[in-house]
Amino acid sequence: MVNCKDVSEHYITPKSPPYFAFNIWSMESAKAVIDGSAKTGQDVILQISMKAFQRLDKEELRRFVTSYMEKRKVHAYLHLDHCRDLEQIKEAISYGWDSVMIDASDKPLEENIAMTNLVCGIAEETGTLVEAEIGQIFKTGDKGHNAESGIARIEDIKTFVKNSKAHILAAAVGTSHGLYKGLPKIHYDLIEGISEFTDIPLAIHGGTGLTDEMFLKLLSYGNVKKINISTDVKMAYRWGIMESVQKGYTDESGFDPLKVENVIHDSLEEMAVNKLRLLRKDR
Ligand code: 13P
Repeated sequence: MVNCKDVSEHYITPKSPPYFAFNIWSMESAKAVIDGSAKTGQDVILQISMKAFQRLDKEELRRFVTSYMEKRKVHAYLHLDHCRDLEQIKEAISYGWDSVMIDASDKPLEENIAMTNLVCGIAEETGTLVEAEIGQIFKTGDKGHNAESGIARIEDIKTFVKNSKAHILAAAVGTSHGLYKGLPKIHYDLIEGISEFTDIPLAIHGGTGLTDEMFLKLLSYGNVKKINISTDVKMAYRWGIMESVQKGYTDESGFDPLKVENVIHDSLEEMAVNKLRLLRKDR
């Protein structure tokens, strides 16, 4: 059994509870997810894509999340999602992000390990958690790829865990990013197989479109500690816009941005609540 590195200060450890991680892109989307977190009493991860990270005022977002989560009496951790750029990773760490993901999964195994360890070295000083990817988690509809072709090989996972200092492993187990046609085939046996030789926490990507039963099954494996939801957040935003149009809030006469923003907020909050309640015993 390879034990996860010394992580006593970290928010995700082999012994920590599992979390949902929602992709946000603005203070408003962060606020709506934190409100969902407060409604359910479940701590949450707010993750930011590289694209959104470039656009955001990092300092302001960090300040806002810290003050708003204190006000709502929950913990919202900031995470940089799928990053391939060392400068952005350094920036996120310098602005107090709680965790970062280095995604070198398209590189040969040795290179993926080396890149991951480089980031772990940078993150060590601040105690920032590092997530790495093994196998490849593709987008639904990616030409020439599918979830099966990216599945992580158990031997590679063993080599990766033995040689890398990553704290969280995003192993490709059959899910994809984006909207599924039908339901994906999750390789639960792989999740279990990993737990037989390491206690490293796993991140499951591609959470949009999974059923509650699938989430609960994933959460029943003690090593699943992070489940990512992105497309569903965007879809909730889209629903908010569509509902505003339908209710006449976008009509020229009497147009009120506050009404539109409230509907969008509530749509995002409801989406987050629907996932976060699955973490509760009394769901
Ligand atoms: P979805 O967009 O499929 O929910 O995937 C989210 C994700 O894994 C982000 O890294």
